[in-house]
Amino acid sequence: MNESSLSIDIRLPSDWADDEMRADMTRAFTGSPIVLPPKWLYDHRGSEIFSEITRLKEYYPTEAERSLLKRHADEIASVTGADTIVELGSGTSDKTRTLLDSFAATNQLTKFAPVDVSEDTLRGAAAILDKRYPGIEIAGLVGDFTRHLPHLPTGDKRLVAFLGGTIGNFYVEERRAFLGALADVLHDGEWLLLGFDPLKSVDKILDAYNDEPGVTAKFVRNVLSVINNKLGADFDLSEFEYIPFWDGTENRVDMRLRSSVPQQIRIESLDLHVDLGEGEEIRVEISTKFSPGYLSEEIKQAGFNVHSVFLAENDEFGLLLAERSPAAQTS
Ligand code: SAH
Ligand code: TRP
Repeated sequence: MNESSLSIDIRLPSDWADDEMRADMTRAFTGSPIVLPPKWLYDHRGSEIFSEITRLKEYYPTEAERSLLKRHADEIASVTGADTIVELGSGTSDKTRTLLDSFAATNQLTKFAPVDVSEDTLRGAAAILDKRYPGIEIAGLVGDFTRHLPHLPTGDKRLVAFLGGTIGNFYVEERRAFLGALADVLHDGEWLLLGFDPLKSVDKILDAYNDEPGVTAKFVRNVLSVINNKLGADFDLSEFEYIPFWDGTENRVDMRLRSSVPQQIRIESLDLHVDLGEGEEIRVEISTKFSPGYLSEEIKQAGFNVHSVFLAENDEFGLLLAERSPAAQTS
């Protein structure tokens, strides 16, 4: 087969982002503490700044994951025998090409299905991949992986790739709910390839989220611009200090924006005024780091059998390969 085929399924109605964001932000800004859901970091500008993060010398996960994928892609292709790769939170799918190359080389791959909330980024990636892999169906899904797993693209035998350490951006209850929901929609014998950042020196971890040129600070502050633009808020970004710190109880980097002054924010389309005291913090994102044993146990609890855990040099990154199995929960 040598015809290219490209389709994009839009699960998010055009007003989805508006309604969903209004609901999310109403909840966030009427709560205490203020905790923002992570998916709003990735508007067009946010996705661009994130790409900049992946190229920072301090941000070790991207290159470490890329080299792990290079080293193990052939094995992953032969062990899983998958004919379809579904990628959650795919972004540019840049590193994923390594995987696709190995699967394509054995002629086992018929379909690649990237899933992301960011439509622009998904379209861009899908177009590039469609050119590069003419014999493979590219079936993109614009959707939210916390809500649209039941609409995942189908395949005879799927491998779901969830890379970049995005699993670490969930709070623990959400993470378990997500893994359980993913296990529910997969059939026995289908696979999960999960990229995670292993626990390591706290200094090294913190540097990756507190880079010298301030790209991460720009990325985190950008969420306030997203709220300004989409909901008519009047956040002044210069009145917020970016504070990343290590939470050793939860094994995660906690990224916050701290109000430098007492201020009142108006969020016009929510008809809301938010009073922030000097030093009051908005919790923007967490990035959890895992011991391989702990994560394996959680994956098992969710309904998978862990087949292998690959670790990069100096534990810079990890890939966990697991098979959906009915026996996993009881064994
Ligand atoms: N996998 C890529 C990108 C990681 S950044 C890499 O490894 O470099 C996280 C990606 O997940 C972004 O592209 C963002 O748009 C997407 N994302 C975040 N929350 C999401 C959600 N709830 N549903 C779907 N995609 C989401
Ligand atoms: N999944 C990435 C991580 O946790 C996302 C990320 C990288 C991120 N740098 C960030 C999220 C800074 C928020 C802020 O490493």
